[in-house]
Amino acid sequence: MTETTTPARRRWDPIVRITHWSIALAVLANAVVTEEGSGPHIWVGYGLAAILGLRLLWGLVGPAEARFSAFWPSPRKALAHLRDIRTGKVVHHTSHNPLGAMMVYAIWGCLLTIIGTGIAMAGPPPWNGASEAAEYRTTADASKSQEEADEEEGEEDEGGEEEGPLGEIHETAANLLYVLILLHIGGVIFETRRSGKQVLVAMAPIGR
Ligand code: HEM
Ligand code: HEM
Repeated sequence: MTETTTPARRRWDPIVRITHWSIALAVLANAVVTEEGSGPHIWVGYGLAAILGLRLLWGLVGPAEARFSAFWPSPRKALAHLRDIRTGKVVHHTSHNPLGAMMVYAIWGCLLTIIGTGIAMAGPPPWNGASEAAEYRTTADASKSQEEADEEEGEEDEGGEEEGPLGEIHETAANLLYVLILLHIGGVIFETRRSGKQVLVAMAPIGR
């Protein structure tokens, strides 16, 4: 049985669509292209931080369906959505569906953790080549004060193999993010098969 309670939205606004695909691109770049902790990795990271910042600001001042208030995380609504899936009831949501909303906040949480730890490890510019943290670890004649700075950030000062707690958190959050992204893409495919291509069309990078 198919039921429609509200008319389907045609497209997300340009800011949501542009930030979505830029975030996806930046994550892909830092996951598979840039060298961990390198200058490009950190530049892409700061770009990612700026784009996410824009999207989060948009959650406060953007159009109604892009605002946080349109998709507060609600386990109760998420369960109701699961019931809809079980009974084959299709409800078109003007914003993210309640299950998708939980995923959006989980992805954002991971990204903020990655960005926070990444910026803390990167230190001030310039970020040419390896990160300062990495440089400290591999420079044999690192000064005492640098070593102390490393220790404050939890970085190991020799070997280059061991990570400090920031690196551990950064890496764990990145791994968790990969899992969430796979689930996210699985969810999009599932929802597309269940309720039509509108979900995908609405997020298409071009078109009105
Ligand atoms: C979603 C985007 C990102 C992904 C997937 C990612 C992934 C990773 C991974 C897997 C590592 C290796 C972790 C380790 O072995 O210590 C790493 C290291 C690093 N990342 Fe990222 N990262 C991302 C974003 C960022 C951002 C936003 C920044 C800062 C602006 C950043 C700065 C660094 C630095 C400085 C290191 C080197 C850590 C060290 O020397 O141990 N990353 N990143
Ligand atoms: C690195 C990869 C990706 C990340 C980090 C990511 C993250 C996100 C986030 C945070 C949102 C919420 C958008 C917002 O409100 O601003 C979202 C929505 C969405 N994403 Fe992705 N995404 C990724 C890849 C993809 C891919 C490959 C597809 C296409 C198959 C896709 C399709 C969608 C769709 C259709 C929505 C809207 C869902 C809805 O209507 O509720 N995403 N994604």
